[in-house]
Amino acid sequence: MVAQPFRSAGVLLRGCGSATPSRSISNADLGQRVETSDSWIRSRTGIAARRVLGPSESLIDLCAASASSALTMAGWEPDSLDLILLATSTPDDLFGSAPRLQSRLGAHRAVAFDLTAACSGFLFALITAAQYLRSGAMRRILVVGADQLSRWVDWDDRRSCVLFGDAAGALVMEASPDDRDDLNGFLMRSDGSRGDVLKLPQIDERAPLVGDASHPQGGFQPIQMNGQEVYKFAVREVPGILDELLQQADLGAEQLDWLLLHQANQRILDAVAERFAVPSTKVLSNLANYGNTSAATIPLMLDEAVRDGRIQAGHRIASSGFGAGLSWGAALLRWSGPA
Ligand code: UT7
Repeated sequence: MVAQPFRSAGVLLRGCGSATPSRSISNADLGQRVETSDSWIRSRTGIAARRVLGPSESLIDLCAASASSALTMAGWEPDSLDLILLATSTPDDLFGSAPRLQSRLGAHRAVAFDLTAACSGFLFALITAAQYLRSGAMRRILVVGADQLSRWVDWDDRRSCVLFGDAAGALVMEASPDDRDDLNGFLMRSDGSRGDVLKLPQIDERAPLVGDASHPQGGFQPIQMNGQEVYKFAVREVPGILDELLQQADLGAEQLDWLLLHQANQRILDAVAERFAVPSTKVLSNLANYGNTSAATIPLMLDEAVRDGRIQAGHRIASSGFGAGLSWGAALLRWSGPA
């Protein structure tokens, strides 16, 4: 008899976790390095502090800690995972860091690879994971969003250095055994023609190879950002894509329990909430403590709100990620939690 491939209509979000470096750098601390002030940073961004990896910490340490918490919450053994997707733009190894995470966790059965989409990375990875689950190709997946932007920020550029921090967040998902579904719609967009407004490009240098041949040198320049253009992009595209998603799902914003946006700037969060008349009590925000941790912001915030009891089983969450690429996306999620 030929075994029937497992097919699933839906996906279930079962567990989450997060990890941040122990070292916190306050706005006042940054004022010792660049000409800025706590009041300027708070009023323009809502950020009060950010975490920065210390000498004995690595991105993979954060990934492993966040993933272990998510697995423990779900009550799953690492060996039960089929896939590990690591959303990061700042891996320890450009060939990919996900396999290191796989081995650290002892998730021997899982295939593991990185996915790069900057601040949209976690949402894009979650949506990608859902396709493997829906197709029946896989049953259990770990998605991690993690970045160490402190490695690539120009700490003498006050226009950008005040924004970023390091963190990791994790989510474990499984194929639904029945008609329940925690991903009730999604949209994803890219526009490379506007990519120059936020980039982390290779250094533009060459070195002699042999004869008159040369080779490009490896290495990256610090993050380059046109803050005003990124701000305009976010306050235009994020409401636009959320509006489209809600219409597609035939839902009103008042039916949402939570708005879980990429934590880039409190003013962006407020502008999106205002556009949909979502009260501030339903807008999840923790960027005061962590700043913009790129691919980690959404799972870091999700984990905090699940663990402190704000997000409850059955809650409906609209999420949107946006950033470099340019890339942006949105998903309508439901939180199931552990079985
Ligand atoms: O995942 C996406 C990541 N990127 C973002 O989310 C960035 C989105 N953009 C923003 O959040 C805002 O554009 C910023 C917070 C980066 C900047 O705020 P802004 O209101 O757009 O400020 P600005 O760039 O228009 O600068 C206003 C003034 C300038 O001084 P002058 O030229 O008016 O004298 C800046 O030099 O503020 C100055 N300034 C600062 N002053 C004190 C810029 N950065 C700082 C600073 N401290 N850190």
